[in-house]
Amino acid sequence: AGTLGAAAAQSGRYYGAAIAAGHMNDSTYVATWDREYNAVTPENEMKWDATEPSRGSFRFTSADQIVSHAQSKGMKIRGHTLVWHGQLPSWVGGLSTNDLRSAMVNHINNVMGHYKGKIYAWDVVNEAFADGGSVGSLRSSIFTQKLGNGFIEEAFRAARAADPNAKLCYNDYNIDDANANKTRGVYNMVKDFKARGVPIDCVGLQSHLSQGSVPSNYQQNIAQFAALGVDVQITELDIGGSGSAQADAYRRVTQACTAVPRCTGMTVWGITDKYSWRSGDNPLLFDGNFNKKQAYTAVLDAL
Ligand code: XIL
Repeated sequence: AGTLGAAAAQSGRYYGAAIAAGHMNDSTYVATWDREYNAVTPENEMKWDATEPSRGSFRFTSADQIVSHAQSKGMKIRGHTLVWHGQLPSWVGGLSTNDLRSAMVNHINNVMGHYKGKIYAWDVVNEAFADGGSVGSLRSSIFTQKLGNGFIEEAFRAARAADPNAKLCYNDYNIDDANANKTRGVYNMVKDFKARGVPIDCVGLQSHLSQGSVPSNYQQNIAQFAALGVDVQITELDIGGSGSAQADAYRRVTQACTAVPRCTGMTVWGITDKYSWRSGDNPLLFDGNFNKKQAYTAVLDAL
C-alpha cells in the first residue's frame, strides 16, 4: 500500500494523526491528512477547557469541524480527553467534593453524549499517574484532592454508561518502559479493574519519545498490557531526532505494535513538523514543507 492508512488497514489497524481545527484552512495540511491517515484525534478541541469553558455551557464547534470532516472520509475518531488535570477551566478548581463529582459526571455525559456512536475510543482519564515515586502513586490534582484515587474508576463507570459502544482507554506518557514504576502502576490498575469488573477496554501509550529513548522492551510492554485483556493503542506518537536514527526509532515502534495482535492502531501527534507542539524537535513524519521524511518511509515499510 502507498499510504500510511492503507498500509495499516492491511492488518486491520488504523494510522491516525492529531489534527488542529485552526490549521484546517491550510489546504496542504488537509490534503496530507486525507491522503495518508485513516484516523484522527482532535489535538485540543475536545479538552475540558474547549468543550465546557464555563460550568454547564458546552461548545463543540471546533471539535465538530474535525469530526464531520473525519466522518465524511470514513476515518476512525479518537476522543481526547474527558478527565485530565491539564487544560482544565479554572471554574473546576473551585468546586467542593460533591460539586466536582457531579461536574465530572456531567462533563462526561455531555461530551460523550454529543458524540455518541461516532467515537472509536475515548481517552477517559489522561495522565493520572505520577512521574517518579513508588508504584501506583497518582499525581496530585483537584481530582485526587477532592475525590480521592477512586476518581479514575468513577470516570470509567460514568463513561461506559454515557456511550456503551466506545472503547474506554486510560492514556499516559512515560509508560513505554515495561518495568518503570509508572508503567507498573498503570498495569496494576488495569489488572485490578479487569478483576473487579470496572469497565476499561484499552491503554493508550502516548509515546512522546526521542530517537535515543525508545525502550528496548517497548514491544514486551505492549504485549504485557494486551495480556491483561485490553487493546493497546499508540496515541500521541512523536519522536524527536532526524535522519536514519529517527527513522529507525519509528520503525521499531511501528514493528512493536504490528507484532502484537491487540495493538489496534497508532496515532502520530501531528502531521508536519511545522505545527508540532514540540517545536524544534522535528518529531513527525512530514517536514515543515510537507515532504516525506526518512521516518515516513520507515513507518510505511514497517506497517
Ligand atoms: C498538547 C497539544 O499538542 C498542544 O497544542 C497544547 O498546547 C498542549 O497539549 N499529552 C496529551 C496531549 O495528552 O493532550 C498534549 O497535547 C500533549 C501531551
